[in-house]
Amino acid sequence: MTNQELEVAATKYAELCKITLNLKTPLGKGQDGCVWKSSRKTAVKAFERPFSYDTELECYQRFKDNRVIRIQGFSVPQLFGFSDDLLIIEMSIVAPPYILDFAKAWLDNPPDFSAEALADHAEKSRELFGERWRDVASLAWALREFGIYYYDTNPGNIRFGDD
Ligand SMILES: Nc1ncnc2c1ncn2[C@@H]1O[C@H](COP(=O)(O)OP(=O)(O)OP(=O)(O)O)[C@@H](O)[C@H]1O
Ligand SMILES: [Mg+2]
Repeated sequence: MTNQELEVAATKYAELCKITLNLKTPLGKGQDGCVWKSSRKTAVKAFERPFSYDTELECYQRFKDNRVIRIQGFSVPQLFGFSDDLLIIEMSIVAPPYILDFAKAWLDNPPDFSAEALADHAEKSRELFGERWRDVASLAWALREFGIYYYDTNPGNIRFGDD
């Protein structure tokens, strides 16, 4: 899917909701899609793949069902709206400290990573977060309560606020 196709989907969603999007300056762009700010101060994320969309939506549904707005001091975006047809999730805009981007999470069962892969992941996390890797590990651990296994630990997805 091209950037333009993502933009078309997000624009259709916005029209249905009678909002507009700031298409000129996206909030972010990554492997899974693109995110824009809306006129009602929400983040509208357009997804490339149905599987990533389903995974992220399921995580935000679980937070909503459990009234989770924060985990271990990190804000979690609140689900605002979605479209299965357009692969769009609309959520609140969070300010650091936050955790977002659940597109690559594993649900209900942990991935079958080898001991070596897990060690590599821990090592990478230490490189990315320095002394704070423990806070990140503890945050990821806390998500397991909701059946969410989160390994996409990078500074774009988890921000402390004073970094
Ligand atoms: N709800 C939000 N509130 C504030 N900023 C956001 C929000 N959603 C996304 N962003 C910004 O947009 C960036 C990209 O969003 P996100 O990580 O969800 O996209 P992605 O396509 O899954 O990215 P990647 O695959 O590169 O990790 C984030 O790193 C963040 O800076
Ligand atoms: Mg990301």
